Amino acid sequence: MSGGVVKREEMTVISKVWNDMHGRGDVLLSCAKSLKDLRLDYIDLYFVHWPFSNYHAPGCPGDSRNPDSRPFGAERYLAAWRQMERLVDTGLVRAIGMSNMTVPKLEAVLPSCRIKPAAAEMELHPCFQQPELFEYCVKKGIQPIGFCPMGSPARPDRDKTPGDCVDMRDPVIVKIAEAHNAHPASICVKWAVQRGQIPIPFSVKEGNYVSNLRCAAEDPLTPEEMDEIKAADKNCRLIKGQVFLWPGAKGWEDLWDINGSITK
Ligand SMILES: NC(=O)c1ccc[n+]([C@@H]2O[C@H](COP(=O)([O-])OP(=O)(O)OC[C@H]3O[C@@H](n4cnc5c(N)ncnc54)[C@H](OP(=O)(O)O)[C@@H]3O)[C@@H](O)[C@H]2O)c1
Repeated sequence: MSGGVVKREEMTVISKVWNDMHGRGDVLLSCAKSLKDLRLDYIDLYFVHWPFSNYHAPGCPGDSRNPDSRPFGAERYLAAWRQMERLVDTGLVRAIGMSNMTVPKLEAVLPSCRIKPAAAEMELHPCFQQPELFEYCVKKGIQPIGFCPMGSPARPDRDKTPGDCVDMRDPVIVKIAEAHNAHPASICVKWAVQRGQIPIPFSVKEGNYVSNLRCAAEDPLTPEEMDEIKAADKNCRLIKGQVFLWPGAKGWEDLWDINGSITK
């Protein structure tokens, strides 16, 4: 920006409040620190990263547990969300979002939100399409943002379990990639964009991140290919979130309200 290459208003800057900063006053502190670190006056979209307030050390193993962990509580979450809303009021943040929510959790908090989430970040890739959550957000006017859009092949070992799907080697994705003379990664991005979510693929290689941008704007998938990918859903969650489990929880499924109500 200082070199005149890009103007602030041409960029969308997104950040998140970390899991151990949900307490009274902490959300504001957290945002102020991010603004200082980024040397910016405002953030375009600010997320609550996980719906569980919890500290775990970066890189900790999947079986590490915080003894203070608790199941989801709508009032606790809303206490953090009210601070998020104040960030919008002050102009420090333009829009706010939620991440790693479920339909029952959204149902529990949305009626009490003075400012509705503009976006919901969730795991979305061909082998894990979360149709119910996706449709719910679309109906509520909340933009779905899909993380791990290529199936996160380089995710930490703690998030790898036997039986996990590999999107970029899925026969349907490989076949469609061959038909388009494209990398399977491009097919994952095209599918996501055409379905209506915003994928956030990660890459450290210029060739890959440029290709990820370009493929979204050219050579679209046919309706038949979209249908084939829809049918390839394996309901295979990769980021299970074990470190958020509370004493007495049975397993990572408890974090995701699989039975249609908030697991306590
Ligand atoms: N909200 C949450 O709780 C949450 C959870 C998980 C992830 N996320 C975020 O979601 C984003 C993406 O997640 P992710 O990195 O785990 O998964 P991903 O985007 O599905 O996969 C990234 C991997 O795919 C490779 N890749 C990217 N573009 C490629 C291409 N065109 N051709 C071949 N390989 C390609 C990358 O390798 P190279 O770098 O070698 O290209 C990298 O190993 C990240 O920003 C992450 O922070 C959010």
